[in-house]
Amino acid sequence: MTVLGPYADDAGNTIEFRSADGSAAPSPDDAALAASAGALFRVLFSGRRNRLVHSLPMRLADLRIQFDCDDGLVEIGPRAGVPALRANMRVGQDARIVLGRNVSATSRVGFSAVEGTTVTVGDDVMFASDIQLRADDGHPIFDVRTGRRANPARPITVGDHVWVGWGAVLLAGTTVGDGSVVGMHAVVKGRVPNNCVVAGVPARVVRRDIAWERPHLSLSKPYYKPDASTVERSPYWNLTQDDALPTVTGRGRTARRVLRRVLPRPLRARLRRLARKVRPAR
Ligand SMILES: CC(C)(COP(=O)(O)OP(=O)(O)OC[C@H]1O[C@@H](n2cnc3c(N)ncnc32)[C@H](O)[C@@H]1OP(=O)(O)O)[C@@H](O)C(=O)NCCC(=O)NCCS
Repeated sequence: MTVLGPYADDAGNTIEFRSADGSAAPSPDDAALAASAGALFRVLFSGRRNRLVHSLPMRLADLRIQFDCDDGLVEIGPRAGVPALRANMRVGQDARIVLGRNVSATSRVGFSAVEGTTVTVGDDVMFASDIQLRADDGHPIFDVRTGRRANPARPITVGDHVWVGWGAVLLAGTTVGDGSVVGMHAVVKGRVPNNCVVAGVPARVVRRDIAWERPHLSLSKPYYKPDASTVERSPYWNLTQDDALPTVTGRGRTARRVLRRVLPRPLRARLRRLARKVRPAR
């Protein structure tokens, strides 16, 4: 499909549109088509019963979706008042990619969801350029001893009002809390709390208790924004919440480093062997 419009084929694949109130809309309205004039739109259905559901109003610049298998779903929320969406999506068997309202991107965001996983992106999420969200690694890795899959596909969840910086990668099993910022070229795997900045490879929390806002520093007045009085505050001004779950704060690494220092090498080797035996399948 290269034409932006409703679609249904004999294999049960569909492209559907929804109005802002969630009811079915017969096709993109004139406003949506005008806002997306010149957009690149390509959807490839290789299997059966795959669905693309797009809500109106919308602003599309470049959307390419490849449904490789059966029963895939892409849901894209409405967009107005934010830059257009650009995305490149691969959707496998029973997999889902669900984007909330007002998700924008300055170049095509790469999404991959296969093997029944879901990539969920909340409302008002701002993607910079060259970003990947991969709920799978594309190819399987197995444990030679047990034959178990070492790299199962796992869901990714990005909360509301998250800013993902240039070149960042979010890997399988990642969750990012509301209001957080992912730094340029970060590689994130794990749980990122709300209202914090993570950066680096692997990404770690480098700043907590932050809030960010959309107005561009040089495209929106005032052209100096030294404090919060220069912007309108979104509802996402919260302190970072801690809880007992492991996060990308590096606590696991620190514990491993301490154990390495205090335990003699033969005991460490025995513990490693034991851990391999008892480690549950993921
Ligand atoms: C992530 C970012 C927003 C953080 O800004 P910040 O809160 O001011 O962070 P700081 O500069 O105070 O740095 C805090 C620490 O994180 C490190 N750090 C910051 N950004 C980093 C990055 N992208 N990669 C690795 N480390 C980074 C700093 O070296 C510093 O480390 P230290 O505490 O050991 O000295 C910024 O560095 C960034 O990546 N900006 C690019 C955003 C972008 O992609 N814009 C594109 C247009 S949308």
